[in-house]
Amino acid sequence: MIETLDVDQLEPGMFVNSVLKQKGRKKIKTKGWVRTAEAIESLKRSGILVVTVDTDKRLPGEDEQEEPEEEPIEEDEEDEMVDGKIPIKKELIRAEDIYREAKVLQRKALSCLKSDLPIDVGSFIDIGGNMVNSVFRNHDALSFMTRIRSKDEYLLEHSINVAILMAIFGKFLEMDKQTILSITIGALLHDIGKIKVPDEILNKPGKLTEEEFCEMKMHVVHGRNALLEHDVDELTLEVAAFHHEKLDGTGYPHALDADELSIYARMIAICDVYDALTGDRCYKDGMPPVAALKILRKDSGPHFDTDLVNKFINCMGVHPVGSLVKLKSDKIGLVMESNKAEPLRPIVKTFYSTKFYRYTEIRDINLADPKISDDIESPAKAEEYKIDLHRFVNTVLFSS
Ligand SMILES: [Fe+2]
Repeated sequence: MIETLDVDQLEPGMFVNSVLKQKGRKKIKTKGWVRTAEAIESLKRSGILVVTVDTDKRLPGEDEQEEPEEEPIEEDEEDEMVDGKIPIKKELIRAEDIYREAKVLQRKALSCLKSDLPIDVGSFIDIGGNMVNSVFRNHDALSFMTRIRSKDEYLLEHSINVAILMAIFGKFLEMDKQTILSITIGALLHDIGKIKVPDEILNKPGKLTEEEFCEMKMHVVHGRNALLEHDVDELTLEVAAFHHEKLDGTGYPHALDADELSIYARMIAICDVYDALTGDRCYKDGMPPVAALKILRKDSGPHFDTDLVNKFINCMGVHPVGSLVKLKSDKIGLVMESNKAEPLRPIVKTFYSTKFYRYTEIRDINLADPKISDDIESPAKAEEYKIDLHRFVNTVLFSS
């Protein structure tokens, strides 16, 4: 039965069917469970006033199989879909909210773990569900967010990015939605044990000594121990606990052999290294995606599953959404959308001239359009041209 409730009447465990009244511009259309008091507070902060709940639905008990998340596409959004996707401009607004909320949650969880306090796993399930739903609406939006990162927040953003990559990769491999949710949550929590590793080891620019490396390796054990104290499913735990294992048995902490590593453990090993290579740190700049993909391919076999690496490369594309490219016309473009039929010719937003070293008029160019003679020359790095990508994205895409 569908009942109408004020947001103040919501209780953890209820299933929200729709939003009837809200203030502000923030779009919250996704149906779903509210699992925690914190999730209800988050709805209030988003300006939600009145909702409908489905009283026939209840959260499963501990012994029951969890019900898959509802399909989040609202009826009125179906008309807007192009090739089965919500337009990226629309989904980016939601993706930015999801990313920001995930960072708040990560920061809170790390501080809890540092003080040996329990983590709010329910909130991770909620945010993981929001990520998976966004990926199913248009995976380019959250993929874009993984590229717009900050040097100083590597630890927070790395886990969120790996979770997004896992959700996108899981969808690409046509896994079911509940499995994708479990591996996404596992990725969100995979490095949480790093908060127990001293900062000077965590952020050391050079090679770690043997003793330091031993301490670093312990982050997986710390993280697993923390998760064992909570109610997380086995797949979530497996993804978090095996993310540094390698096919040739040289990984850690268990040095597992290939036949002990499931497809999910093999997936996170790839997503973890890809994000680590492409991410900026306080002491070094990340490499362009295409260079990171080359390293993954080189290390496939001993370290990574060759077939999965090839699939990951197909999934990400040579020029992932959110990456910068230099065009033959000497312009810098931000990759905004992939072209399935022509992966080397995405839709880009040009905004900078490498000839004159200055910002230019912003233009959206579909490089697959036969009328366009321009083409990608190479990947580009923002630092090389002193481009403030954060500022550009916030001004052009997220301001209103
Ligand atoms: Fe790790």
